[in-house]
This record gives sequence, C-alpha cells and structure tokens, in this order.
Amino acid sequence: MKILIINGPNLNLLGKREPEIYGNRSFEQFLDELRGQFPHVELDYFQSNHEGALIDRIQETGFSTDGIVLNAGAFTHTSIALADAVGAITTPVIEVHISNVHKRESFRHHSYLSAKCVGCIVGLGLDGYRLAVEYFKGQQV
Ligand code: DQA
Repeated sequence: MKILIINGPNLNLLGKREPEIYGNRSFEQFLDELRGQFPHVELDYFQSNHEGALIDRIQETGFSTDGIVLNAGAFTHTSIALADAVGAITTPVIEVHISNVHKRESFRHHSYLSAKCVGCIVGLGLDGYRLAVEYFKGQQV
C-alpha cells in the first residue's frame, strides 16, 4: 500500500515554528517513527511552500497512490485551485491540521478542502497523520 503525506507552506519549520502551537518535533523525526509503525505501508512525503508545486504533486500522484494525507497549511483557507486539484483526482484525501483550527482565528475556520476530502482530522497534533494512515490501512481490500 502506498500513501503520500503532503505538507504545505511553513510546515518545513515544524519543531522551530511556534512550538506552543505546533510542538517541538521536526516532521522528519516524526516521519521516521511513523515509517517504523507502518512497515508494510510505503509512506512518501512531499513538502512545498508553493501552491503550484502542491497542485502538481497532487495531480501526479492522485490517480495512482492509495491515499493522500494533506496538511495544506494556510492554503487550506485560501486556495480554490488546491481544492479543485483534490476534487479532480481519484485517490482519497484526508485533511489534517496539527492545531485545532476551530479554536483559533476565525479566518482558519473555513477550509476550501474539507468538502473534497473523505474526512478531516484537526487538533490532535502530529498524531493526526498517524490516524489518517491507520484509516487508509483499514480501508485496504
Ligand atoms: C495548520 C493550520 C493552518 O491554519 C496554518 O496556516 C498552518 C498549519 C495546522 O496544521 O494546524 O500552517 O494547517
């Protein structure tokens, strides 16, 4: 089984960026652990600060991989183009946010992506990514 995790803008700074909100672990550290927890799942990872690069990767992968776990960062709240890309592909997508966006500024309450996703996991920290992978694994036939 193949799953792609995509992180959007500023998520390359995890561990350094606002640790009181996003924690103090880097994503690379976390990803190593996650791969160890799912030895039979091929976990690919892509991060970009650029909207077009995220869209390109969704298009390239979105007809062949088994699941995409997407944290689009702030593009979640702004990008119709990203939502269209998620809507265009056949691979199911789970939207993840590390923080509970609903407890934060009101501009974070709306997501253009949620309606195109199979589900959303918010506010559970990095554990949200693990839960998303677990879900896809459970869907395997
Ligand atoms: C985030 C929430 C977004 O509102 C924010 O812009 C991010 C991170 C999260 O994981 O909690 O960059 O997606």
